[in-house]
Amino acid sequence: MAIEYTLSIIKPDATKRNLIGKILNRFEEAGLRIAAMKMVHLTQQQAEGFYAEHEGKAFFADLVAFMISAPVVVLVLEGESAVQNYRDLIGATNPEEARSGTIRHDFALNYRYNSVHGSDSPESAQREIAYFFVEQEIFK
Ligand code: TYD
Ligand code: MG
Repeated sequence: MAIEYTLSIIKPDATKRNLIGKILNRFEEAGLRIAAMKMVHLTQQQAEGFYAEHEGKAFFADLVAFMISAPVVVLVLEGESAVQNYRDLIGATNPEEARSGTIRHDFALNYRYNSVHGSDSPESAQREIAYFFVEQEIFK
């Protein structure tokens, strides 16, 4: 299996509830290594650009408003098959459908306030990592 990099965000509902440490612990316990990390309060333009694939959808404006409602923690995670392994670790988008033991099952409040983001493919990961980090900030 190949070493991959994926983009993770600890979202405002989690940072506001003081869950950063607990969620970072889940990443490390799952064997993902933190290769880059920063805390940032996204601007509206940054949030819209990040979620450009969802522009025009009914939930887009509410999603962007949520993502700029408090600081987030943005990370690059490294591991074997990290993109899929991390998606498995966070669970389904809707926490009501997320498997028990997944981060969204255990921490998310609802469909929108779902605590974490994860890239959905290696191609998305590449775009999303470059959206937030330059090469020198990623410790491989
Ligand atoms: P999506 O990329 O489909 O989910 P994921 O985060 O699992 O990759 O959607 C992005 C975010 O938009 C999702 O985490 C929560 C929010 N969202 C809604 O609020 N309502 C919806 O119907 C969908 C599909 C997503
Ligand atoms: Mg997605």
